[in-house]
Amino acid sequence: MKKILITGGAGFIGSHVVRLFVKMYKEYQIFNLDKLTYAGNLENLTDIESEPNYTFCKGDIVDGDYIRELFETHRFDAVIHLAAESHVDRSITNPMEFIQTNVVGTVNLLNAAKHFWKDDFSDKLFYHVSTDEVYGSLHDGGFFLETTPYDPQSPYSASKASSDHFVRAYQNTYGLPVVISNCSNNYGPNQFPEKLIPLFINNILNNKPLPVYGKGENVRDWLYVVDHARAIDVIFHKGKIGETYNIGGFNEWKNLDLIKVLCKTVDAKIGRPEGTSLSLITYVKDRAGHDLRYAIDASKIMHELGWEPSLQFEEGIGKTVDWYLENKEWLNNVTSGAYLQYYSDQYQNR
Ligand code: NAD
Ligand code: TYD
Repeated sequence: MKKILITGGAGFIGSHVVRLFVKMYKEYQIFNLDKLTYAGNLENLTDIESEPNYTFCKGDIVDGDYIRELFETHRFDAVIHLAAESHVDRSITNPMEFIQTNVVGTVNLLNAAKHFWKDDFSDKLFYHVSTDEVYGSLHDGGFFLETTPYDPQSPYSASKASSDHFVRAYQNTYGLPVVISNCSNNYGPNQFPEKLIPLFINNILNNKPLPVYGKGENVRDWLYVVDHARAIDVIFHKGKIGETYNIGGFNEWKNLDLIKVLCKTVDAKIGRPEGTSLSLITYVKDRAGHDLRYAIDASKIMHELGWEPSLQFEEGIGKTVDWYLENKEWLNNVTSGAYLQYYSDQYQNR
């Protein structure tokens, strides 16, 4: 019986990873540690919350004493670390919170793993989930490889880069068995509507302006969240200790082109005449330090571990829009209260 600690399991990607592991591996005990910040939501996991191999622990990874006690009590065999502050715009307004959770929180987890595993590192694994944003911004074609030098440009990506460096340093210095993956932009069910795709779906549904930063020419490489969870499963079980794996779907979209697909998809699904929602597009002040383009070369995980994305983008967008239409209560719950204040702070003077 393996005991696996998954951090950030109530968030967007974490909830898909928890679901996959709880359902696929009945022989594992899955512990989901989450602080339940604005981005964490136990409603994401109602379908598996009563499974006998699932336990939820509410706690903060920044609290080193709590993390040590949790390891002491449960003696985990492995960690899959996803808990993080994850939104670039929030990192521009409040970088310190990103340093606390993403850097200090990660080091607390590394310290606990090192302490409790030090007598025998065999069969242990610290899996750190990271982002392609650590590589910086692409301008002249090309792709991010696992060997691309780090060049983070936002407080968010700088904090993730720092945490990646600590993870590697703990392997190099103490021999901790680690693996890291760096994934491109995710989309799909359960994503908090502050990121581009769910924010714009919500605004289209509510006939609100679609705030396009700058000219809408920035390029992102989009992957369906369940495919990311599948990649994490493959790396966890088949990845080589000490290696880094880039995850992406070779699926680049200029923001404006993606927004047009979203408008078309939502219009079709709710019976609005085609093109109606395009009139909601509103150009607003660009994000400070806005990275131009991200694009992942995912050849290594495809060739070495046999993973590949399961969905074409249009299919994934269709499924995503369907999910938000079928889960209006979820959407209403997360877009009330503090969300309204966030939205007005973020967009009123743009
Ligand atoms: P998210 O913001 O939806 O979820 C983060 C989760 O972490 C939430 O449940 C939150 O409550 C929890 N959390 C935050 N601070 C915490 C703390 N101090 N202690 C315990 N729990 C805390 O994020 P996401 O989009 O699901 O991203 C998950 C991970 O994947 C992050 O590490 C992120 O950097 C990485 N990632 C995200 C993307 C993406 O497109 N969303 C792409 C690549 C990598
Ligand atoms: P986002 O979903 O925040 O992901 P990231 O910045 O981590 O890639 O943004 C995706 C792209 O969409 C990015 O180029 C910024 C842009 N964007 C907008 O144009 N308007 C918005 O309101 C948001 C949230 C993002």
